[in-house]
Amino acid sequence: MSEVTIIIDGKEVQAQKGQRLLQVALKAGADIPNLCYLPGVEPPQNGCRLCWVEVEGLKKPVTSCTQVIEEGMVVHTRTPAVDRLVRSGFEMLMSVHRLDCKVCPGNRRCALQDIAKSRKIPLKPKRLNKIEPDLPIDESRPDLGFNPNHCVLCGHCVYVCNNEVKKKILDFSQRGLATVISTFDGRPLADQECDGCTRCAEVCPVGAIYLRQ
Ligand code: SF4
Ligand code: SF4
Ligand code: FES
Repeated sequence: MSEVTIIIDGKEVQAQKGQRLLQVALKAGADIPNLCYLPGVEPPQNGCRLCWVEVEGLKKPVTSCTQVIEEGMVVHTRTPAVDRLVRSGFEMLMSVHRLDCKVCPGNRRCALQDIAKSRKIPLKPKRLNKIEPDLPIDESRPDLGFNPNHCVLCGHCVYVCNNEVKKKILDFSQRGLATVISTFDGRPLADQECDGCTRCAEVCPVGAIYLRQ
């Protein structure tokens, strides 16, 4: 791969041709909201729709996790159009999220809280009706718990369980607005051949899959 130079918010950044813009920008210190990107996973899931940027010469903002860098690219991470898209995407996400931070295992280490703080967007959406999910919590195991009401469907747990640990216990289930993360057969975690590696809890950016102490 050959080296290219791009400009991110006025700063020159060197990277390898063909890399995804989000990975390069985050490494260079840019603050771009993202939930579903895992470095090295190709193609990117492109599910959270939060990592918007503007690239000079392109008519519309693009998701930076899918955008491949090219020599001379000039990128802006904060424009009115980008901020609008990030805010709308975040509000949509939070409109179907059970917001009970005080009792959530993710409290104070949660990517949603970080995004809300850095973009000055309230965690509780103001413009959309809120539907608080009330799905059953799985605390069948002593070491791991799963609360689907906090899940943002980033897919990180599914990826590591299937591709790194190769246990194939977790997957996306159902479709559209009903999509949830579940075990393959729908039975609780305690009934699975899970050896408690806890990689899923490590990669969960919120408080959905968590360690039980
Ligand atoms: S996942 Fe994050 S935003 Fe949601 S309740 Fe837990 S700490 Fe709060
Ligand atoms: S449980 Fe966590 S890691 Fe898995 S999809 Fe939901 S938010 Fe992502
Ligand atoms: S990080 Fe780009 S769409 Fe989620």
